[in-house]
Amino acid sequence: MKACVCRRYGGPEVLDLTDVQKPTPKDKEVLVKILATTVTSGDWRVRTLNVPKGLGLVARLALGITRPRQPILGTELAGVIETVGKAVTRFRPGDAVFAFPGGKMGCHAQYRAVAEDGPVALKPANLSFEEAASLSFGGSTALHFLRKADVKAGEKVLVIGASGGVGSALVQLAKHFGAEVTGVTSTTNLELVGSLGADRVIDYTKEDFTKSRATYDIIADTVGETSFARCKHALRDKGRLLVIAGGLPDMLSALWAPITSSKRVIAGPAEERPEDVQQLAALAKAGVLRPLIDRRYDFAQMAEAHAYVETRRKRGSVVVSVGHAR
Ligand SMILES: NC(=O)c1ccc[n+]([C@@H]2O[C@H](COP(=O)([O-])OP(=O)(O)OC[C@H]3O[C@@H](n4cnc5c(N)ncnc54)[C@H](OP(=O)(O)O)[C@@H]3O)[C@@H](O)[C@H]2O)c1
Repeated sequence: MKACVCRRYGGPEVLDLTDVQKPTPKDKEVLVKILATTVTSGDWRVRTLNVPKGLGLVARLALGITRPRQPILGTELAGVIETVGKAVTRFRPGDAVFAFPGGKMGCHAQYRAVAEDGPVALKPANLSFEEAASLSFGGSTALHFLRKADVKAGEKVLVIGASGGVGSALVQLAKHFGAEVTGVTSTTNLELVGSLGADRVIDYTKEDFTKSRATYDIIADTVGETSFARCKHALRDKGRLLVIAGGLPDMLSALWAPITSSKRVIAGPAEERPEDVQQLAALAKAGVLRPLIDRRYDFAQMAEAHAYVETRRKRGSVVVSVGHAR
């Protein structure tokens, strides 16, 4: 099969579309013929080893010392099940599915085997394969952090980076959980963030939310622009700062914030749970979560897709269609 491989850390030019062994599903796995995948900020971080402050060594140990241990990037996919392992009971060949291998990656390929009890769900019929492929990275991260923050109806939530992959899911899901949502974005994306359901939108090129008197129960930073010290006065009593793109200093502030105040900092990697993928499917089916797609690329244009994601300006997801012509 064809796959996009990344055999060393570097710019988009390190990517190579080449032939690799097609996987064979184990007894409890399904083999998905991939029709669509995405290039996310996660793929950019792994390819470049550009990680938040203080996490360089940990990242090399986790991802590969001199090159990515998993050379096929890609965290999420949508496609059709081609074959199933002999002990599989939940799925059948021909089922349209989407899946989120997440940090295990391997979705920038024509096929991927996925455990049937892993993060895989039937594709909601109201979504295209491209939309289904772009549900999980932002959606699952948003669900994780909102769960950790124990968001409640009526709470005030500020989302920094509201137009990005994670931010666009956070705005929609926080609204779904009954929060009053303010999005922080640039002038270009004000209308877009409003259309996602935000009650209020702040243009960061004109207004610094830390200098206003407004306070929030939850501040979700998907950009890495802020810190507990900088925005703690914008948090209400018992407020939570979600540092989704945070580095080591933010993880340390998660330890001392509750000792020195009534507030909490929630940082670290998001869990990747099969039940979250099921929940995302249900929310998308109900029309609550609408995947936001920015640009579409063909499989042969993977390097261009990476170059665009690397601008850090994408809105929602960048989707790649995976062809199967011989
Ligand atoms: N903790 C975890 O487990 C976890 C999981 C997933 C992702 N992440 C991290 O979360 C971060 C966000 O991921 P993503 O996929 O959402 O990224 P993304 O889609 O690439 O984010 C791009 C968006 O960021 C916005 N942006 C850039 N600078 C901004 C600023 N100063 N203020 C407000 N918005 C700004 C841009 O909007 P404008 O053009 O309008 O500025 C753009 O729409 C990444 O660092 C990623 O590594 C962490």
